[in-house]
Amino acid sequence: MTLETFLILLARWLHILSAALAIGVPIYVRFVLMPAMSVLDEEPRSRLRDALARRWRIIVYLLIIVFLATGFYNFLGAHAHWRQFPEGSELRRRYHMYFGIKLLVALVMFFLSSALAGRSAKLEFIRTNSRLWLMVLVLLGIFIVVISGTMRFMS
Ligand code: HEM
Repeated sequence: MTLETFLILLARWLHILSAALAIGVPIYVRFVLMPAMSVLDEEPRSRLRDALARRWRIIVYLLIIVFLATGFYNFLGAHAHWRQFPEGSELRRRYHMYFGIKLLVALVMFFLSSALAGRSAKLEFIRTNSRLWLMVLVLLGIFIVVISGTMRFMS
């Protein structure tokens, strides 16, 4: 295996692993942790929420860095899937359109994940409605997986 092939594979592994975490953890929190935490009184629940957010926040920032690095490596590298489509072709145009949509939705996901795990007072309204925003986050994540898989198999 050449170094280049290994780097392409590594970027792919990291990208997909990050996607599993960025969607899997919000599903766990929304459908398992939050309902289970309702057995606690408000004070210990709020302390637990803060402790969880403090740890998860670091992983969120790491995931964003990994997504940006591996995602743009996938898109700009010589191996990028879209390079096989002839210049000016309908397929290349459609691929880039899907990529643009995916990037926008990914940025919204990054914002919501950071707001939910963050401390900014201005974004407190997102944490107050975390049930709703976690659900939005999960749906956006599923949409991204669908659009990414479609891009991969475009030919
Ligand atoms: C800056 C953000 C991102 C960029 C630039 C980016 C870019 C890319 C690119 C170029 C591909 C290759 C598509 C192809 O093979 O034609 C890809 C694959 C993929 N992306 Fe992203 N991505 C980003 C964020 C995300 C996020 C937030 C998720 C999910 C939560 C995600 C999930 C995936 C998955 C699952 C694949 C593999 C699809 C497959 O092989 O079937 N990406 N990404």
